[in-house]
Amino acid sequence: MKIDKSTNVLIFGCGGMLGDSVYRLFSENATVLATDLTPNEEWLSFADVRDYDSVKKVALDFKPDLIINLAALTDLEYCEKNPENTWLTNALGPENTALIADYLDIPLVYISTAGIVDGLQDVYNDFDKPNPLSLYAKAKYHGELFTTSFLKKHFVFRAGWMMGGGPQKDKKFINKLFKQLNSGAKELFVVDDKLGTPTYTKSFAKGILNVVESGLYGVYNQVCEGECSRYDVAKEFVKLLDLDNTVKITKVDSDYFKSDYFATRPASEKLVNLKLGARGLNVMPHWKDALEAYSTEFIKELKK
Ligand SMILES: NC(=O)c1ccc[n+]([C@@H]2O[C@H](COP(=O)([O-])OP(=O)(O)OC[C@H]3O[C@@H](n4cnc5c(N)ncnc54)[C@H](OP(=O)(O)O)[C@@H]3O)[C@@H](O)[C@H]2O)c1
Repeated sequence: MKIDKSTNVLIFGCGGMLGDSVYRLFSENATVLATDLTPNEEWLSFADVRDYDSVKKVALDFKPDLIINLAALTDLEYCEKNPENTWLTNALGPENTALIADYLDIPLVYISTAGIVDGLQDVYNDFDKPNPLSLYAKAKYHGELFTTSFLKKHFVFRAGWMMGGGPQKDKKFINKLFKQLNSGAKELFVVDDKLGTPTYTKSFAKGILNVVESGLYGVYNQVCEGECSRYDVAKEFVKLLDLDNTVKITKVDSDYFKSDYFATRPASEKLVNLKLGARGLNVMPHWKDALEAYSTEFIKELKK
């Protein structure tokens, strides 16, 4: 489908790290209604994906040509402790948005996760079979299965370790490191037994636009090029902030953090963009280049 200013794009869960990039890109190219459970920007309005009637009303009023569902609970430990809300948000939410897309006969974008694999394999392509371990991943995988089995017009993107949103919105690894550094930490403890593929939100948003315009429905791995451990990412980030002479990074294994991070995570959640590559649709940069671009947002903050 061609996306231009006459295309109405309805986005759910747009207040988060990925939402920031998706909103910025899509609002330049289309007419966007961005919604979230907690509207934290003047460009956001309220919609709760757990509530079918709320989702349907917003959709019927706006008359979208495309729905993008970014809404999810993404804190794995919160999910383990709050199973009901996790199923309602990460599994029923995608069912609700898929039902509306079906009713309106329009395409739907759903974001799945590399976290749905079991880590027994080194690297996973788009066709390898998921086997989710944590509650977060089980509910997200249900969302993926419902979307793909129920809707013909689906685009499902599996993301890896998300990097984006900057110091205000990033809830994940980079900002967790940054918060320690910004409060003067001289030593960081970082696991080296978890492998994955970072995923830069700005490139990811471009990828969504590109694939939707191609009209080639399906499930796509969409992560940065290259692979790494959490330790490799931390090392690179500290170097980019020019703190490598003052901050020590100590390698630990996952047991070190087991009371804080008790949800089961795969040892390897490395993905490869086999389908995007084969179809000439891969816009994802190497994770080191993406991290270099992303770190400028944190360098600005350090200087404040
Ligand atoms: N972060 C990652 O590392 C990662 C990796 C792979 C895939 N993903 C997927 O990428 C998508 C975007 O996530 P993100 O990284 O941008 O995470 P995020 O920053 O947590 O954004 C998710 C947004 O959804 C909102 N939300 C939660 N419950 C909702 C509901 N019932 N109705 C409407 N909105 C709701 C959240 O609001 P609150 O902040 O108020 O909860 C938040 O603003 C999600 O589908 C996620 O599963 C993320």
